[in-house]
Amino acid sequence: MRTILVTGGAGFIGSNYILYVLEQRDDVRVINLDKLTYAGNLDNLSAVANDPRYEFVAGDIGNRELVDHLMPKVNAVVNFAAESHVDRSIMGAEQFMHANATGVYVLLEAARRHGVERFLQVSTDEVYGSLAPDEAPWTEASPLAPRNPYAVSKAAGDMMARSFYITHGLPVLVTRAANNLGPYQYPEKRVPLFITNAIDDRPLPVYGQGTAVRDHLFVTDHCEAIDLVLRCGEPGEVYNVGADNDAGGMELTERILDALGKPRSLIQHVTDRPGHDMRYALDIAKLRRLGWAPRHDLDACIAKTVAWYCDHEAWWRKIKDSWGYRAYYERQYGGR
Ligand code: NAD
Ligand code: DAU
Repeated sequence: MRTILVTGGAGFIGSNYILYVLEQRDDVRVINLDKLTYAGNLDNLSAVANDPRYEFVAGDIGNRELVDHLMPKVNAVVNFAAESHVDRSIMGAEQFMHANATGVYVLLEAARRHGVERFLQVSTDEVYGSLAPDEAPWTEASPLAPRNPYAVSKAAGDMMARSFYITHGLPVLVTRAANNLGPYQYPEKRVPLFITNAIDDRPLPVYGQGTAVRDHLFVTDHCEAIDLVLRCGEPGEVYNVGADNDAGGMELTERILDALGKPRSLIQHVTDRPGHDMRYALDIAKLRRLGWAPRHDLDACIAKTVAWYCDHEAWWRKIKDSWGYRAYYERQYGGR
């Protein structure tokens, strides 16, 4: 039996990964270390809460004593824990530097001290910066040029992780993924925010003219990629995880409205995000060579995600009705 320390496992991708890995691999145990910030939600994991192969530990990846206590029990680490929302990092980035940079360092030091066999740092395509319309997609060799506080904090964690391979020989792997969508995404991110607002006939706040382009990766495809890289990736290597599902902001928004049978009049253009990255695109040839391919095209991503939010109103209404969410929404969109 192998034990994986999954950090940030109560968040969107981390909880999907825990559900995926416990379902797929009989020989794996999971310890989920999560601080339960506003984005952490144990409801996501109710299906495995009583599984003897699953253990939850509440805590901060920056807590050295706690991390040191857990590390001897595990063979591998998959670090999802992070502050993940760009707009919140624009409001203030202190927690982003704590979780996404210092927290990664604390995990790496403990992993090194205790001889952990594999350390997978979950990074993001945002570390590459922003592409012009005519530029080729980023490869893993493209320079890092992050442009917003979230992306900078993630680049710090990404580079610190690789430095532990280079200087200490820790078997580090890094994945850099595109925009994920699917079940359990906190409704501050564009896709779940727009789906749930549309269900309630509320405006969909499109930043600027809605021309920014994103790739769209279904979350279970991301989980499969992480599972593969953890088992078969080459230590010290970086793997891009994208799906070639590019779409501009207006196209994506209209597809969501169409999937729900809602009118285009719900679209409301609002002030653009400061420093908005206008295009992300990844070259995923390296991960394809390892044996992975995305299973969901853009239509499937949108159809499955819309269906999940329609079927799980209680999950997202509990969040959207909370005081913390309402305060955030007012601060982010009020008078915008
Ligand atoms: P999320 O915000 O939904 O979840 C983050 C989780 O980390 C939460 O459960 C939170 O409680 C926990 N956490 C935050 N700070 C912590 C700390 N200091 N100690 C312990 N736990 C802490 O994020 P997500 O969208 O699931 O993203 C997961 C990871 O994937 C992040 O590292 C993010 O940068 C990366 N990523 C996300 C996307 C995406 O589209 N969502 C794409 C590429 C990469
Ligand atoms: O690409 C990977 C990244 O994807 C991850 O590293 C981040 O953790 C994740 O949050 C996501 O970042 P984005 O900034 O791309 O996602 P977000 O959903 O915030 O925005 C997607 C696009 O939609 C972007 O062009 C901004 C736009 N947008 C977003 C919101 C929240 C709007 O037009 N209106 C909105 O209200």
